[in-house]
Amino acid sequence: MHRRFTVPGALAAASLLLAIPASAASYSPGAPGIGDPYYPYYGNGGYDVSHYDLRLKYQPATDELSGTATISARTTQDLSSFNLDFLLDVDEVRVNGATAHFTTSGEHELVVTPRQPLAKGTPVTVVVRYHGVPSAKSAYGFTTWHRTPDGAIAADEPEAAWWWFPSNDHPSDKATFDVSVAVPDGTQAISNGTLVSTSSQLGWTRYNWRQNKPQATYLSTLALGRFDITTGTSEGGVPVINAYSTDLGDNDGAARASVERTGELVDWLSGYFGPYPFDSAGGYVPNTTTGYALETQTRVYYSPAQFANGSNTSVVVHELAHQWYGDSVSVKGWKDIWINEGFARYAQWLWSEHEGEGTTQELADYVYASHPADDAFWTVKPGDPGPDHQFDAAVYDRGALAIQALRNEIGDTAFFRLLKGWPQRHAYGNASVADFQTYAEQVSGKPLAGLFDTWLFQPVKPAAPAARAASF
Ligand code: ARG
Ligand code: ZN
Repeated sequence: MHRRFTVPGALAAASLLLAIPASAASYSPGAPGIGDPYYPYYGNGGYDVSHYDLRLKYQPATDELSGTATISARTTQDLSSFNLDFLLDVDEVRVNGATAHFTTSGEHELVVTPRQPLAKGTPVTVVVRYHGVPSAKSAYGFTTWHRTPDGAIAADEPEAAWWWFPSNDHPSDKATFDVSVAVPDGTQAISNGTLVSTSSQLGWTRYNWRQNKPQATYLSTLALGRFDITTGTSEGGVPVINAYSTDLGDNDGAARASVERTGELVDWLSGYFGPYPFDSAGGYVPNTTTGYALETQTRVYYSPAQFANGSNTSVVVHELAHQWYGDSVSVKGWKDIWINEGFARYAQWLWSEHEGEGTTQELADYVYASHPADDAFWTVKPGDPGPDHQFDAAVYDRGALAIQALRNEIGDTAFFRLLKGWPQRHAYGNASVADFQTYAEQVSGKPLAGLFDTWLFQPVKPAAPAARAASF
């Protein structure tokens, strides 16, 4: 009699099993963030996306965007619900065919509760039907949907996706993309990858773009407006698609004189970084007043301001360098931004040397000398700059200076092997600053912890590089 009650836990568990499906207790909501300490709510927990299929329609006159996102994913834990990052108005969500309950929370969370909980490791198809006026939406008080006189663009870092498609918005969850957008005849829709086809009916032209290599959500771009599209192939065989707003005014000539050299510059960079990782290259220049450029995968975003003083091949080199350093090999977390920006800047220095406008060593010495020890420049740690300093000059310039210091430490043979080996080592994946240090130590056979710490992780001006080299 007594013995029957010596294992009450097991009995309770057994009776529970009769009432609820096996291990139901382990089903829980996916986290509202993927775990990036810089941005706690960016990305989401519990699943991994493999493909986004976006079928959209856009009306430039009113900035109305509508359509359907079909997301192919796989669960990484037992889920009772999961989040997507999104700001537009949702009409319907289906999970594996069945309509699902949804609600919004926080700044940009769409919370989806499927009828049936989802077991870990199973494929899931999520369909989100939505509409909205992206320019009317903001999160944390800002927007990165940029309207232009004849359309709009989505291109920003680290956030741009929320305004146009629901996603697991973090570079650690890369996926392939089909982006199909219908616009009024006479308007163009530009996105990543290859233009598979266009079709027209009822006054609307549909552009079907395909990105067949993994792509981070922030590197997905959409540009709507009146564009002149040019196509070609680089000498090395890379197809090039560029697009220019038909309204670039005085900047039109310089923009084309720079961006039309994409094929030549891709081939030149391949000499340092190895084969170009994607099926097409190119860029677009909309008639926007925003001032930055972005390495949107295969289709770089440039603003006309970059060409206000004439041609600017340096910015083209920077953004194309990111196709290897940033796009094919993406950051694991946003603190790893140096593996993007340090190398894109260093590529500009290599180009400067090629053009006879200053060697990498001269530019490193110049950056070093032009910031006195008490300059706030040195307080930013390129290896972990913090979310408020992610795109500070120090990440780029001190970041490139660190690369020159590394080169001087390990010698040119190991350095250029490293520069070419890294994009192969982590092709189409993710990596961290720590991974880069480990790889550099492997390739060079030298311990580099001190050098990385000095140049990337100390909030002070390092001792002079020359003095440092002399001490070895
Ligand atoms: N990765 C870009 C570049 O250096 C930086 C863009 C940052 N600016 C911005 N407004 N989000 O090419
Ligand atoms: Zn950059």
